[in-house]
Amino acid sequence: MKHLLKLGDLSKEEILDILGLADQLKFERKNNIPHPRLAGKTLGMIFQKSSTRTRVSFEAGMYQLGGNALFLSSRDLQIGRGEPVQDTARVLSRYLDAIMIRTYEQSEVEDLARYGSIPIINGLTDYAHPCQVLADLQTIREYKGTLAGRKLAFIGDGNNMANSLIVGCVKTGMRVAIGCPGGYEPDGEIVKWAKENGDLTVTDDIFEAARDADAVYTDVWASMGMEQEAERRKRDFSGYCVDMKLMGVARPDAIVLHCLPAHRGEEITDEVLEKYAPSIFDEAENRLHAQKAVLVRVMNG
Ligand code: CP
Ligand code: NVA
Repeated sequence: MKHLLKLGDLSKEEILDILGLADQLKFERKNNIPHPRLAGKTLGMIFQKSSTRTRVSFEAGMYQLGGNALFLSSRDLQIGRGEPVQDTARVLSRYLDAIMIRTYEQSEVEDLARYGSIPIINGLTDYAHPCQVLADLQTIREYKGTLAGRKLAFIGDGNNMANSLIVGCVKTGMRVAIGCPGGYEPDGEIVKWAKENGDLTVTDDIFEAARDADAVYTDVWASMGMEQEAERRKRDFSGYCVDMKLMGVARPDAIVLHCLPAHRGEEITDEVLEKYAPSIFDEAENRLHAQKAVLVRVMNG
């Protein structure tokens, strides 16, 4: 695996390999077994949007692997003053061993990979959030034992999280249902691909989506960069909330997942977040382990 730009680029075997290594790295960390697989390596982390989990888990993960991580805010880089990504990519490739980037356009991530000569990792775009979904799959497998045949229901906006969840679930044999208002459906090409290659339902009925789900997933109504649409979205997404009534139609042993940050009282009730906190915060923890596996695979083969 050379880069992690989106999950669609990975085979099922590559995804399962990363999940297996993530479990191994989690075991090593829990048992205080040193694992300096990336000694001497440096990761650059470019952020054009805010972050708590992605920044801290990548930075801590690189240290735990024996390497270093540089936090590069686009406010301070010349990229923020208009230096083209083609030039930035070629310069940073001379200093670093890999780059993680969080930005808006997926094309910016693809351009970094095209012009640079080091591995590029997508730390979230408007289109995809592959690192999050690798941690999500690791969490579902921990709680359910298997992925194939399990059902994931996603309630909310059909953007980055929904897109990546559909791809990750279909590739690992899971069934997926998206419950979203009309006009907020996931990417059309991903939906077409998923319907041809797996079991995907897209509906505006959240009860249909959540019925018999093994995992119920939600995300904010207004993602980063969409703040100016927040009021309209509050109206459009009204009722698209994971509450105890909705959990009543999922499987009795269903887990709840949320990529976080959460807006209690909007996409999820306080009651659900607290009741299902174990799976939600295990999921957040698994960002660390899953991303360390990605770092090892792209930098070490
Ligand atoms: N889930 C996630 O990516 O969180 P951050 O925005 O805090 O990185
Ligand atoms: N959909 C959210 C995910 C945050 C991790 C966003 O893009 O802001």
